[in-house]
Amino acid sequence: MIRTVPTQPFGDQKPGTSGLRKKVKVFQQPNYAENFIQSVFDVVEGKQGATLVIGGDGRYLNRTVIQTAIRMAAAAGFARVVVGQGGILSTPAASHLIRRRGALGGLVLSASHNPGGPDEDFGIKYNVANGGPAPEKVTEAIHARTLSITQWHAASGPDLDLDTPGEVTVEGMTVEIVDPVADYADLMETLFDFDAIRAAGLTVAFDAMSAVTGPYAIEILERRLGFAPGTVRNGTPLEDFGGHHPDPNLVHARDLYDLMMSADAPDFGAASDGDGDRNLIIGRGRFVTPSDSLAMLAANAHLAPGYAAGLKGIARSMPTSAAADRVAAALGIPAFETPTGWKFFGNLLDAGMATICGEESAGTGSDHVREKDGLWAVLLWLNILAATGKSVDEIARDHWARFGRNYYARHDYEGVDSAAADALIAALRADLPALPGRRFGPLTVAAADDFAYRDPTDESISANQGVRVLFDGGSRVVFRLSGTGTSGATLRVYLERYEPADGYLDTDTGTMLADIVAAAEEIAGIARHTGRTRPDVVT
Ligand code: G6P
Ligand code: ZN
Repeated sequence: MIRTVPTQPFGDQKPGTSGLRKKVKVFQQPNYAENFIQSVFDVVEGKQGATLVIGGDGRYLNRTVIQTAIRMAAAAGFARVVVGQGGILSTPAASHLIRRRGALGGLVLSASHNPGGPDEDFGIKYNVANGGPAPEKVTEAIHARTLSITQWHAASGPDLDLDTPGEVTVEGMTVEIVDPVADYADLMETLFDFDAIRAAGLTVAFDAMSAVTGPYAIEILERRLGFAPGTVRNGTPLEDFGGHHPDPNLVHARDLYDLMMSADAPDFGAASDGDGDRNLIIGRGRFVTPSDSLAMLAANAHLAPGYAAGLKGIARSMPTSAAADRVAAALGIPAFETPTGWKFFGNLLDAGMATICGEESAGTGSDHVREKDGLWAVLLWLNILAATGKSVDEIARDHWARFGRNYYARHDYEGVDSAAADALIAALRADLPALPGRRFGPLTVAAADDFAYRDPTDESISANQGVRVLFDGGSRVVFRLSGTGTSGATLRVYLERYEPADGYLDTDTGTMLADIVAAAEEIAGIARHTGRTRPDVVT
């Protein structure tokens, strides 16, 4: 039996950088999740006879919303839904499954690196047939639908057993519960030289942060690659991530950082986030910024079997440092600069214009799926270490000696009053024309703009993607408001200083960026607008 339930629109269901993210309590309102899922199904065409993938990062509410989504998919006319056992699918594994099964799309349930639990965050994202996040025209149509929805439809019946692999039928639709890890692990074996990694005798610490990558990392690192038991830390996914932020940065993965800087450090340390798409890379005594990691992976990717033929192009988000551009120039391949959000890479990957992509927000990935992929980055690093016999520190130093170094940091001001944050950005935009030629300490502004992107594959334009102030000599500061937060506004200030290959290549980042930090305050009036004199998080 199919039920039709009358409902009324919610005014706050506009998807952000990465799907709809809200507090669990917001999602628990009657009809809230149903309205959004129905809006997705109302907008998406071709559901009759099609396959839909469903899974999430295991956080609180995951199982409840999966049961809802299955019932609603049956009512929407899907022929089959493929669900990760236990409701688990990492974001990159979901992307792979959508592609491998020729699915119409997938519902990925996660709030990524945000904390989980009854008082924390939840999210729903729709991915399209290429396995990537829905492009803006789809998310805009979904949002429009959420504002006019009047009813939703669902099969009735008891909850399904999500923990036993196999098939059952709901209102004529097949529900297939699958091993969430196997297909993904097989894909990794096609890209990387597992024998060489095994033979290299490296020691590794991987922190799964009590989030979704635990089962993937245990299968790949400990079972298939033979790293010692215990290599994977915090490897059991928990609904509240053990009360931590599953965000692989120097603040929230502090234990791993301390280990890697200690006398007991293994050769290689890494962590991933709630849904498995982000990565943190730390060699013994050497943290690698995400922007540098992208550049170093791109420069060495040909050492892994999956990329032996070379790269077609490299793409990075605008706030990501320009280190990768220098690699692209050296390789003689195109470099693309996109707005923040993995969805902007999808067209470039589909068109075969880029092979490797990355973002300062700890995301790196390639054309093997259409999401960023934390374990992929870990395995590519391990493959490079195995193939070169060098340490992470040596790879980094060699890289800078060849390309120069882009010193980089991001300062986040969290939970800022939204009106104050909007006023700061508005004032910045108004000041843009007056900035070129102005001096801030030793820095002179070469150019300033509000970043707009023209997608070279479909000519679509995305405007207002962040204010950037470029200084003479390749340094810059970028101001942007986060599109992923769930309370107040988060102001992100991205700081970058280029130091040529014959310059200071191994100096403290804070020291190297001090002039740019001072210029950023002077240009944006952060303290005046927000009342904050220092950032909450520095990554
Ligand atoms: C998500 C997206 C990324 C994006 C990041 C930062 O993780 O998948 O593509 O870079 O959010 O977004 P924000 O808007 O918070 O800076
Ligand atoms: Zn994530």
